[in-house]
Amino acid sequence: MPVKQIHLAAHFPGVNNTTVWSDPRSGSQIDFDSFVHLARTAERGKFDFFFLAEGLRLREMKGRIHDLDVAGRPESLTVLSALSAVTTRLGLAATVNSTFNEPYEVARRLATLDHLSGGRAAWNVVTSYDAFTGENFRRGGYLDEADRYNRAREFLHTARELWDSWAPRDLVADPAAGEFARAGAGTFAHRGTQFDIAGRFTVPRGPQGHPVIIQAGDSDEGREFAAADADVIFSRHGRLDDGRAFYKDVKSRLAKYGRRSDELKILPAVTYVLGDTEQDAAERAAEIRRAQVTPRNALVFLEGFWGRDLSGYDPDGPLPDVEPDLGEGVSKGRAQFRGDRGEVVRTWRALAAERGLSIRELVIEATGRQTFIGTPRSVAGQIDEFVQSDAADGFVFVPHLTPGGLDDLVEHVVPLLQEKGVFRADYTGPTLRDHLGIGGPRAPKETP
Ligand SMILES: Cc1cc2nc3c(=O)[nH]c(=O)nc-3n(C[C@H](O)[C@H](O)[C@H](O)COP(=O)(O)O)c2cc1C
Repeated sequence: MPVKQIHLAAHFPGVNNTTVWSDPRSGSQIDFDSFVHLARTAERGKFDFFFLAEGLRLREMKGRIHDLDVAGRPESLTVLSALSAVTTRLGLAATVNSTFNEPYEVARRLATLDHLSGGRAAWNVVTSYDAFTGENFRRGGYLDEADRYNRAREFLHTARELWDSWAPRDLVADPAAGEFARAGAGTFAHRGTQFDIAGRFTVPRGPQGHPVIIQAGDSDEGREFAAADADVIFSRHGRLDDGRAFYKDVKSRLAKYGRRSDELKILPAVTYVLGDTEQDAAERAAEIRRAQVTPRNALVFLEGFWGRDLSGYDPDGPLPDVEPDLGEGVSKGRAQFRGDRGEVVRTWRALAAERGLSIRELVIEATGRQTFIGTPRSVAGQIDEFVQSDAADGFVFVPHLTPGGLDDLVEHVVPLLQEKGVFRADYTGPTLRDHLGIGGPRAPKETP
């Protein structure tokens, strides 16, 4: 069997539980220079794309801004438009919510980015719907959880109708014929349950036809949405067994939508730590985890699940002896946990008792994601093994330092993957669709 080619993406860190903002090597999370540094590093490493997450309201814990929401998250498409001018091949992926926006506006911005960047735009369609975030918007928390994917699906399909409203040759610009654009160009009418809009779309068809579509929800409906409509899944399932199970589940859903399994790439979020020896890397990794999970962060994390003020507890002591309050909870905002908190707390109590873990040690265990740890050679080997054994098609690397956190991966690990023949030595085409090897959408009908 031919070896699978690995796909790599770079996540700009910032607001998430891997960021170590207190490290003396950490720079600004909002200055343009920081974005430029990470993007250029990723492009030097021939990565498929650069990824920006989105948070539409700062997380709060008991009315205080969460410790990890250091600089919030600036608006993705604005940042990526600027980056398109200082990069030439790197894909540019924006996370844009389908609940709090309108298709015409989002389709217009993405088509514009696709033009500006020469065909490198991607859209991570997220479906956060909570009322807390909704308070920032005109109509408040107006979407029922059950409707989040109904709206997302129709939102995306409407955006596609808008992108298709211009056929590839509609922009004529022929002075001899006196014709600038074909008469019907940009005409659309969408009548659905979520959107009822008609008119003319302002942006001619972009180089990719449609920007690349990424999906990041994890529910059954989210997976179905991805199988039907996405080009890439950004997943949380990075560990080997869990990754394989997720991969198999999602890929098996594609056939019923008439799609081949290689038309959807699965890229879990992962981190990495390099060292001169295995032991050196393991020590560094343990140090980084302790910097990520400070004593305060450990208690804040636990409070989110206990639904109680735990500030009187010692982070280096045992888990709280009080039962959780399973009411509304004290943490508000992005990435709220929606499963059974009581069940989670029971599992953690058992784990902590079995392994003799303190609060902080338990949180280090519970919030860890797949981390490739070792020498550059062993990390290259691990990445390749995960991809060849169908735990993923590649990875979105989330470094813990901004903006230099991918420097050593690109310098020391990427060349080894290239040597193995599992990662490109150079870009083979101009567009992100080329990098992902997924081809373009079918061209819409020519306007008569
Ligand atoms: C890896 C990953 C990254 C995500 N990133 C974001 C994000 O940046 N912004 C956001 O609003 N939601 C984000 N989400 C949330 C999802 O898009 C989605 O709204 C949420 O998971 C609810 O959908 P679900 O019930 O299908 O999981 C992310 C989810 C996953 C799994």
